[in-house]
Amino acid sequence: MGKLKILPAQIANMIAAGEVVQRPASVVKELLENAVDAGASQVSVVVTDAGRTLIQVIDNGCGMSPVDAVLCFERHATSKISTAEDLEQIRTYGFRGEALASIAAVAEVTLRTRRPQDETATEVQVGAFGEVKTATVAAPSGSNFSVRNLFYNTPARRKFLKSDPIEFKHILEEFTRVALTRPEIAFSISHNGRDIYVLKKAKSLKFRVLDLLGSNVAGDVVDLAAETSVVRISGFVGRPDTARKTPGNQFLFVNGRFFRSPYFHKAVMKAYEEMIPDGVTPAYFIFLETDPRSIDVNIHPTKTEIKFEDDSVIFQILYACVKETLGRNSFGASIDFNTEGAVPLPQLGRSFEQYKDVGMPVIETDPGFDPFHTGDSPAPAEAMPGLGRHIDRREDYGRLFEEKTLPLGRILILQGKYILTPAASGLMIVHIGRARERILYEQTLRTLARSGHVTQTALFPVQVRVGANCRLLFEDNADMLARLGFDITPLGTDTVVVNGVPEGYSCESGKVEQLVEDLVLILSEERESLPELMQQRLAEKFATLGAAHAGPLSSPQEAQRLIDTLFAGDNAELTPGGRRIVHIIPLGDIEKKF
Ligand SMILES: Nc1ncnc2c1ncn2[C@@H]1O[C@H](COP(=O)(O)OP(=O)(O)O)[C@@H](O)[C@H]1O
Ligand SMILES: [Mg+2]
Repeated sequence: MGKLKILPAQIANMIAAGEVVQRPASVVKELLENAVDAGASQVSVVVTDAGRTLIQVIDNGCGMSPVDAVLCFERHATSKISTAEDLEQIRTYGFRGEALASIAAVAEVTLRTRRPQDETATEVQVGAFGEVKTATVAAPSGSNFSVRNLFYNTPARRKFLKSDPIEFKHILEEFTRVALTRPEIAFSISHNGRDIYVLKKAKSLKFRVLDLLGSNVAGDVVDLAAETSVVRISGFVGRPDTARKTPGNQFLFVNGRFFRSPYFHKAVMKAYEEMIPDGVTPAYFIFLETDPRSIDVNIHPTKTEIKFEDDSVIFQILYACVKETLGRNSFGASIDFNTEGAVPLPQLGRSFEQYKDVGMPVIETDPGFDPFHTGDSPAPAEAMPGLGRHIDRREDYGRLFEEKTLPLGRILILQGKYILTPAASGLMIVHIGRARERILYEQTLRTLARSGHVTQTALFPVQVRVGANCRLLFEDNADMLARLGFDITPLGTDTVVVNGVPEGYSCESGKVEQLVEDLVLILSEERESLPELMQQRLAEKFATLGAAHAGPLSSPQEAQRLIDTLFAGDNAELTPGGRRIVHIIPLGDIEKKF
């Protein structure tokens, strides 16, 4: 072993930066929190290239003196605590005095800052190797941090950054968390010159949620409130029927600080037990207030985990409070398991569970169906044992195709879910929803590959307030949506208008909002960088969406067309997700029953 050395400050800071600055979003978080701690009433964030090129945060807070403007980049320079007791009762976001030192170790930082009482502002530039330049300049009161070329000196870290949309998504998450805790502060954020959010000072948290997440989230929540000696709880929880398969909009805060807690998440989920199906998560915005001395915010460098002295007590209170709120609004009773005309197992949307269970089958009669007519019965010779197997393996697919080429004169639609029809070796059962999924998948892939258009059904225009960020999703994907048969145009800053949907989508008015929500989920997914993979994934998503939003089959003719299209395609056997579309019950099995 060599001799001991004390690391130069710059290198020590770079190592420490690894903990604090994991990605551009970490910088946004730290700078936003500092601006809030500085008492700002207005904070703007400017981002270029998802933060790789520039992250700028401008506030109108207390500003810094010329001396502090330099000092703030030193490690352990903080104005927020000075004694051990202070550490016990932190009310600010920051207190470690690490963030700016860490950021300046892995990026080029320029600060301009002025206190309201000072005549002139100070500019501090921290360049490569911690080199500091200062100047006296003119600037508005407050602070303006510009962070350029993040990770310029740590190429490994730079290489591990994800695509711009993913990194920017993380930035927006941090922005949202801070904006939610401070409705009284005006926040804005722009990306590559485009305004993403411009949030005015809001009257209350509910208005902030409305501005941030749109009316389809804010409109579906109920108020939460409880006051005990240990904790005060406020905020909102989502209605059970709006719980989603993709988690998102689950927020826990304590004393105004966002934190993660699988434990308290469980308390919330437990309160929803039996009101929501497995695998979905309700939205919630829960604010806890406790004595700062009873929590330890110090256990994690990025400070999203927090230790609670009374965590099991708070668990019980939280559980009881959410449960009581849900009970008071009697959601338990309002869940409707109606299955009529429903499409089975759509993957998206709030309603999927209501299709799951069916009870006694009801047979829909086909007016043209004659149960005594035997003309289409397969000849006994065709019911040979070898042919009478379930079609389980891929190589059997050829046989399935041959079976379909026999005359298929009789069609029965069972419960809107299955098509039953005779096949050479037995009874063929086609799962309607899955067949649609398969057909739509291939159709969508074709449409995405060439520049074809899918025909459209016009609607009475329906306006849906989706929030500024989601409105941008529709704008960014306008071309693709149009090709797939959606006519959706942005309106104002946070609303979209649906004028048309692809042919075959249910036109029932209430369904459109749900459709828009489902589209948001699809469009906001992390995107693959390989175009073919992305097209496949998109096609899968749109296929599930289309199947979920399809109206019921209206006639045996339509069922026949569905079967014909299914078998004309590439693979009639499995959905793109690998689920079985067609079963044949062998004649032998049927005979065994008698
Ligand atoms: N936007 C700002 N306005 C005024 N002062 C600031 C601002 N950002 C940082 N500071 C000062 O710089 C110090 C160091 O900031 P930081 O490294 O984030 O540490 P911490 O927030 O943990 O104190 C803060 O304690 C504060 O005094
Ligand atoms: Mg800080």
